[in-house]
Formats: sequence, structure tokens, C-alpha cells
Amino acid sequence: MPVQLELDDIQGTVLRNRPMPYFGAYLLFRIDDAKQARTLLRRLLPYVTSAADWDRPVEDAWINVVLTFEGLRRLGLSETILAEFPVEFRQGMAARKVFLGDVGASDPEHWDMPHGANGFHVGLLVMAASDELRQQKLAVGHEALAGLGGVKLVGRVDVGVPPNLREHFGFADGISRPYIEGQGGAPLPGQGEPAKAGEFVLGYVNELGVVATGPGPEALWRNGTYLAIRKIHQDVAAFRKYLRDNADSPAGQEFVAAKMMGRWRSGCPLALAPEADDPELGRDSRRNNDFAYYGEDPDGRRTPVGSHIRRVNPRDALKESLTDARLHRLLRRGSSYGPMLPEGVLEDDGQDRGIILALVNANPGRQFEFVQSQWINDGDFVSEGSRTDPIAGRRDHSADYAFPARPVRRRLAGLLDFAVTRGGEHVFLPGIGGLRWLAGGGDLQT
Ligand code: HEM
Repeated sequence: MPVQLELDDIQGTVLRNRPMPYFGAYLLFRIDDAKQARTLLRRLLPYVTSAADWDRPVEDAWINVVLTFEGLRRLGLSETILAEFPVEFRQGMAARKVFLGDVGASDPEHWDMPHGANGFHVGLLVMAASDELRQQKLAVGHEALAGLGGVKLVGRVDVGVPPNLREHFGFADGISRPYIEGQGGAPLPGQGEPAKAGEFVLGYVNELGVVATGPGPEALWRNGTYLAIRKIHQDVAAFRKYLRDNADSPAGQEFVAAKMMGRWRSGCPLALAPEADDPELGRDSRRNNDFAYYGEDPDGRRTPVGSHIRRVNPRDALKESLTDARLHRLLRRGSSYGPMLPEGVLEDDGQDRGIILALVNANPGRQFEFVQSQWINDGDFVSEGSRTDPIAGRRDHSADYAFPARPVRRRLAGLLDFAVTRGGEHVFLPGIGGLRWLAGGGDLQT
């Protein structure tokens, strides 16, 4: 039986791709008054875009609403229900810092995005197809706040995907994502067997063969999910200088960059073009993700086993190990913040720039937290000892990266903190019925 997803009840960002390029913002609110917060939710509800109305969003803006654990508590959710939420969500991301490798420069004491109990409680994700529309649509958030002194705007981060679709290190982004059963359309070549919907949406069967559920009444959690939000500062100058210092020509720099990522900066995968970039292949969505590792490249001669994309989604590479990669899939909604460092500049200009990831997962422990701690920040699973992800990994465990090359294996030493965490939170993205339930009071206590 094909799975029927309740598309009109699932917030759109879970299943639908953003317009590209796009202009967005995270508006972060603090709740001091439960009743007023519910009024805010009620006012926002008509604008919340579902997966069904994504193609024709109300007033041309895509708006989704998330809540933190403390946000649900401040809305008045009972302690009995709160206690049933997953531990990662209850504790909040900052409290998970040691496990997640947010240490040193990435320690939450340096974060600049509100987080934790005194951080933000409701988040509004606004997306629009132009900067002008973004400004207009942000007004929805501001208008919804009118007269509600008990709910305050405590943060705003502007994000987007620029017209060249590149992130700050210069790589084309937004190429690979799982195809979820029931999402509609057809999978692209390389997306493989559809992922079970319960990996990404509560209320459906997951890869373990059981229905993924949530705490309290079904009205609260049905069609909801969790996002792991990460604000990651990118040290673009350090990355460029590192490439320059470890290659003897511009072409050599591109090669080293590709070996760290697993794709050329054009998006073209090393798996399909191991020797030289093929930008046309990189642009072709029917070819640029159509590869596997197990049979074709078991030792990582093409795509190094420790490269970013092979770590975060090993595809079929771990077939002979005990790890089932399908239990650790993430659906990425990544976007950039901050100005691009002009082409060729090798000195840091002191501007904050980076990536904000909203990683969709119905089980934050075995999905985001597993990938971050075991695959990004450790190398054991690919027999690379304590070596970490050369793009996004922590450096206190290892600053070293190696990959097969001719005539001899190449080792890069002295990797720097190219990516530094500046904020993060596990948030709950209710279904639209769940939002209505929360807005209407549900069995809330106040
Ligand atoms: C500064 C930090 C990061 C940068 C610059 C970055 C950049 C990229 C780029 C350029 C791609 C290839 C494009 C694509 O396949 O769509 C990619 C893929 C991916 N990244 Fe990251 N990323 C970062 C951090 C992370 C983190 C922290 C996670 C998860 C914990 C993550 C998860 C993924 C996943 C799941 C993929 C898709 C891989 C695939 O399916 O082949 N990334 N990333």
C-alpha cells in the first residue's frame, strides 16, 4: 500500500524544496505570557504554509513555525507531556555540547544566536523569492505581535541561497537529499529506495518498521517533526589560505577542495568525475547525484572515505558493517548568512558569515546527533581513527586528513577551524493541526 502523507497538515519545509535562489529569515521570539503566545500562534496560523499549498503560498511567502522545549513549557504544556519528549530536545543543544563536539571556539559560551531556556521559544522561518518580498512578509511576523507585550522578538538572522547557489566556501549546495515515500513527484536518479516517511514525519512507519510517535495526544504530534538548527560560522579566508598552502597551482587547490568535500566546487561528484571537474555534470540534476560507493569505490580512491559528503551520507558504503545508514539520514535545509568574501581575498574581513542548517529528523538522537558525533567528529566508522570531517569537523581530536592519491597516499596536516558553531537548537515543528491545538489551548495548564 503506498503511503498517503497528510500533505495539508505537514509544514511545507519538511517535504518541499525552497525556491532557488531564495531570501529568508529566522525570527526568534521569547514568550513571557502563555495566553499572548497562543494568540500569536493563532494569528500566524493562516500564513503557515503546508506541503500541499507550497506551490501557491498565501501572499507569496513561505512561513513555517517552530517551538523549543522551553517554548512548549511556557505555552503551558503539562510536565507529564513535556517529560515524554526526546531527551536531546528536552535538554537543548547547548547542554549537549560535549557529545556534539561544540568545544573550544564552538562552545555555547561564544554562541550569538539565542538558545537554551533563556533563548528563544518560538521561531518563524520566512522564505520569499526576492528580497523585497522577504521584507513584506516579515511584516506578517511583526503584525502578529501587535499588542502582545508578553511575546518579544529576541533575534533575527537573515539567510538565503545566492543566485549562484554556492555556499561561502564556493561549493554548489542543495544537491542531495532523500526522497521520502509519499512526498509526491518522482525520485531523481541516485535518490535510491524512498526513505520511510517516519524518519522525517511523526505518525508514519519509520525504517525500523514502527510508527514514529510523539508525546501526549496525537493531536499534538501528528505530522510534526524536529529540526536540528545549527548556525555555523565559516572562516573563508582560512579555508582559501589552507588550499593555497597545500597545493602548487590553482588547479591543485580545486583538487584538494574536491577531495575534502567529495564534490568539485561546481557540484560535480568525484564519484563520476575523479580526475577533472565537469561543471555541466555538476548542474545536471539527473546525473549529479547518481552514484554509490560500495561496488565502485570501496577504498575511497575517487571519493575519500573521510570526505564530507561520504561521511554524512555513506550511501551503500557501510553495507558490510553493523551500521545501517538508512537509520541516520538527514534532510537538509541549508542556507547562507552574511556577505560573501569577495573572490580571491585571503585576509579575513571580520564579517560574520556562514551556513544555517535546519536538519529535519523525526528522531534527533539517532539522526542529527549520531551523524554529528560519530560521522563528522570521529573516524572510527571508516577506519580513520580519530580523524574528523575536513570541512565541518572538530579539530581538538585531529587536525589531519588523508586520502588515496597517486603515486602515494596524500596527507594534509594542520587543518584549521574552518567551521565554528555559533548557535544551535533542537526545535519541534508541529503539524498544522498540532499548531492549532497549541494555539487553542489543547490541554494546556494556564
Ligand atoms: C560549514 C559546514 C558545512 C558546509 C560548508 C557544508 C557543505 C555541504 C556541501 C557543499 C554539500 C554537497 C552538496 C549536496 O550534496 O547537496 C553538503 C552535503 C551534505 N551535508 Fe554538509 N556542510 C556543512 C556541515 C554539515 C553538517 C554539520 C551536517 C550534518 C550534521 C551536514 C550534512 C550534510 C548532508 C547530509 C549532505 C548530503 C550528502 C549526500 O547525500 O551525499 N553538513 N554539505
